[in-house]
Amino acid sequence: MKFAPLCCSFLLALTASAAAAVSLVPQPVLMKTGKGSFAFSASTPIVYPAGSPEAGRIARLLGAEINQSSGLDLAILPSSQAGRSAPIRLLLDPALKEAGLEGYRLTISRRELLLAAPTPAGLYRGGQTLRQMLPYGSGKRTLALPALEIIDQPRFSWRGVHVDVGRHFHSVSYMKRIIDWMALYKMNRLHWHLTEDQGWRIEIKKYPLLTGIGAWRTEPDGSRYGGFYTQEEIKEVVGYAADRFIDVVPEIEMPGHCMAALAAYPGLSCTGGPFAVQTQWGVFKEVYCAGREETFAFLEDVLSEVIELFPFGYLHIGGDEVPRDRWQACPRCQARIKAEGLDDEAELQSWFIRRIEQYLSAHGRRLIGWDEILDGGLAPGATVQSWRGMEGALIAARSGHDAIVSPGSHTYFNADISAIDLRKAYSFEPVPAGLEPERIPYIIGGECCLWSERITEENLDYQLFPRLLALSEVLWSHPGQRDYADFLRRVRNHYPLLETLGIGFGPEARPVSLLTRFHPDEKFHTVTLESGEEGMALHYTLDGAEPTTASPRYTSQLTIDRPTRLRARAFRDGRDYGESAGADFDFHLAFAAPLQIDHSFSPNYPAGGGRALVDGLRGSIAYGDGRWQGYEEVDLIATIDLGEIRPLHRLRAGFLQDTGSWIFLPAYVEWSLSRDGSSFRTVAAFDHPTPAGTSEQRIQEDQTELPGTMARFVRLRARNVGLCPAWHPGAGGKSWIFVDELVVQ
Ligand code: ACM
Ligand code: ZN
Repeated sequence: MKFAPLCCSFLLALTASAAAAVSLVPQPVLMKTGKGSFAFSASTPIVYPAGSPEAGRIARLLGAEINQSSGLDLAILPSSQAGRSAPIRLLLDPALKEAGLEGYRLTISRRELLLAAPTPAGLYRGGQTLRQMLPYGSGKRTLALPALEIIDQPRFSWRGVHVDVGRHFHSVSYMKRIIDWMALYKMNRLHWHLTEDQGWRIEIKKYPLLTGIGAWRTEPDGSRYGGFYTQEEIKEVVGYAADRFIDVVPEIEMPGHCMAALAAYPGLSCTGGPFAVQTQWGVFKEVYCAGREETFAFLEDVLSEVIELFPFGYLHIGGDEVPRDRWQACPRCQARIKAEGLDDEAELQSWFIRRIEQYLSAHGRRLIGWDEILDGGLAPGATVQSWRGMEGALIAARSGHDAIVSPGSHTYFNADISAIDLRKAYSFEPVPAGLEPERIPYIIGGECCLWSERITEENLDYQLFPRLLALSEVLWSHPGQRDYADFLRRVRNHYPLLETLGIGFGPEARPVSLLTRFHPDEKFHTVTLESGEEGMALHYTLDGAEPTTASPRYTSQLTIDRPTRLRARAFRDGRDYGESAGADFDFHLAFAAPLQIDHSFSPNYPAGGGRALVDGLRGSIAYGDGRWQGYEEVDLIATIDLGEIRPLHRLRAGFLQDTGSWIFLPAYVEWSLSRDGSSFRTVAAFDHPTPAGTSEQRIQEDQTELPGTMARFVRLRARNVGLCPAWHPGAGGKSWIFVDELVVQ
C-alpha cells in the first residue's frame, strides 16, 4: 500500500455519502465505501489477538478513550474469549508491512469491523480513526457505521507539537492532557521546551541549583512564579506519551536563552554575573561562555542525565537567538576563536554546536537545532528546525540534512488568530517551494509551536484548537486531497467531540476586521468591514453601542466624516460570534492638519505615514496595531499648522510604554505654541522617568488645559531615552518612542 501509485484510483472511489457520514481529521489517504452498514452498539466488544499483550494494552486504552469521548463502555476481550457476535477486531498483521510504522487498514462490513496494522503504533493510530467515527456528544448509543475500507499512512514521519514550559509552567497532568489531544489527531512528537531565560524546568541531580534557583522567578510585583519536573515526573510524562506512540523530544537551550541556568551557576557566563531568572520576555545578551571548559563539562553532565530520561533518538539544543556581544568582549571566548582558528563569533557559535553534536552522537542521540545552527557552518548529522521562514529547511535539505519545518508565519499557534487563521494554517505546505524532488525526503515533517509568553493552562487549548486539526491534516494527509471547504465542514463536526472532551477551542478566524483608510486632504476616513469566516452577517453602530442584529447591516464601504464611535460585530445564524471590533474617530482641531516632523519615524512603524499623528484615531495597548508611530533613538519634534490663529483649550499626546519591546515613555515632553511659526512659547512640560525594572505596558496621556490661548502653530517635543538603561535586558540598545494622536481642541 504505497500510496503514491494507488491514491488516484482509490480517491475516485470515495463517494460523497461516505465522506459525509464520517468526519475524520486528518483525512485518510484512501477511503472507499462498500454496501450496507455495521450495527454498532454498547454491547459490541473489542476483541484483540490473545497472543499479543501489546495489542491487549492498546485495546484497553482505546476502550477507555472511546468511553471518554462517547460514554460507551465496551467490553475488551482476548480472541480466546470472544463469542460469535459481530465484533470489533484488532489484528497485528505483518503482511501489511508496506503501511509503514504508523499505517493501518480499517475495514467495516455488515458483519464486522476489522482494524489491522503491521505495528502496534499503526493499530493505535487506526484506533483514533475509529474513535472519531463513534458517537460523541450526541447521546446515541447505537449507530450504523457505513461499510467502508480505509487504507492510511502518514505523509510525514515527524508531526510535532512544541510546548514551551519555560515562560509558563504546565503541570504533569496538563502535559498529559496535551498528549491526549495530540493522540486524537495522530500527532507523534512532543517537543518539550524545558529551559529558558525565565525558568529551568527539569531536575538535574548533579546541579540542584538549576531548579533550586533557576526554576523560580520574582515577578515585578514581588510574587514568586515557577515550577519544575522531578526526574520521576519526567519519566511519567515520557511513559504516558510512549503508551500513545508519541515520542518526547527534550529541548535544552544553548548557548543562549539560558539566564535561568546562569542565575544558578553564574560562573558559566562570560562576565561571572550575578544574574536573576528573567521576568521579561525577549532576547538576552547573557549566554554560556564558549571559552570556558566548565561550560562544556556542565552541559555534558546535564545532557547525560537528560539522555537517561528521554529514550527517543533526538535531542533539541535550541541554538536560536544568540547575541554575540558577550563573546566579543570576553577574553576567553576570543582566545577560543584564536585557538580553534575560527573567523568570528558566528563560527564560534557553530563550533559550540558541533562540539555538543559530537557528544550527543557519541551517546546515541541526534542533534536538532533551530535554523540559526546553519550560521557559521552546520554540524554533521544535525537536523535543522526552520522557524524564520522556510529558507533554513531549503538550505538544510540541499546540503543533505534533515529538516523540520515550523515557520512562524504559519505554525506559531501562540500567534493571534488574526495573524494565523485556520485557513492560513491549513494552507501551509511543508515542502519548501523550489526544493528539488530528490531532496524532498529530507523534509521529515513539521511542528506547531506554542511559545508561552502569553500562554498558560487557562488558554493553551484555545490557541491550539482548531488550528491543530489543520496542521494534523497538513502533515498526515495526501496534499492532493487538500480542500478547505471540506476540511472546515469536518472541523465543525469535531466541535462536539472537543466539547465532550473538555477541550476549549478558539475562533476559526477573526470574525470581524475593521480596515480604515485616512484621506487627509479630503478630511475623512473610509472603512471596510471584513469577516475571516464564511456565513457571517456584519452589523455596526456609529455611537459606541454594541451592535445587535437590529443594528444596520454592513453591505459596502462606510465614509466617516464626523466624530464617530464605530463598533462592528459578526453574527452567525442570528447569534453573536466572537469579539466586536471598534474605532473612535475624533475630529479635533488638528484633524488632518499639515504636520512637520523633524526626525523621521521608523519605516517599520509608520502608522500610516505623514499625517497619521492627526488622523483622529488612537493607538491601543498593542504596539503593533498599526496606529502607533515609532521613533528609534531620535527625539520626536512635530509641529502642527492649524491654518489660522485660533483659541485653543486642550492639548493631548499619547505615548506607549512597553519596555519588553524596548519602547519607553519619552523622558521629557514639552508643548509650545506660536502665532507666526518662528517664535514659540512653552505652555506645558512633563517628565517621565521610567521606573527601573518595570515591565508594565501602559498608555501615558499628557494633557494640558489652556484658557483659550490664541495660536496657529502647536509644537510637541518628546525626548527619547535614547538607549535602553542599564537595568534593561537590552541595555545600550536603541530605545523607542511610540506616539499616537496629537489632539488639539
Ligand atoms: C524561536 O522562535 N526563537 C525559535
Ligand atoms: Zn566567554
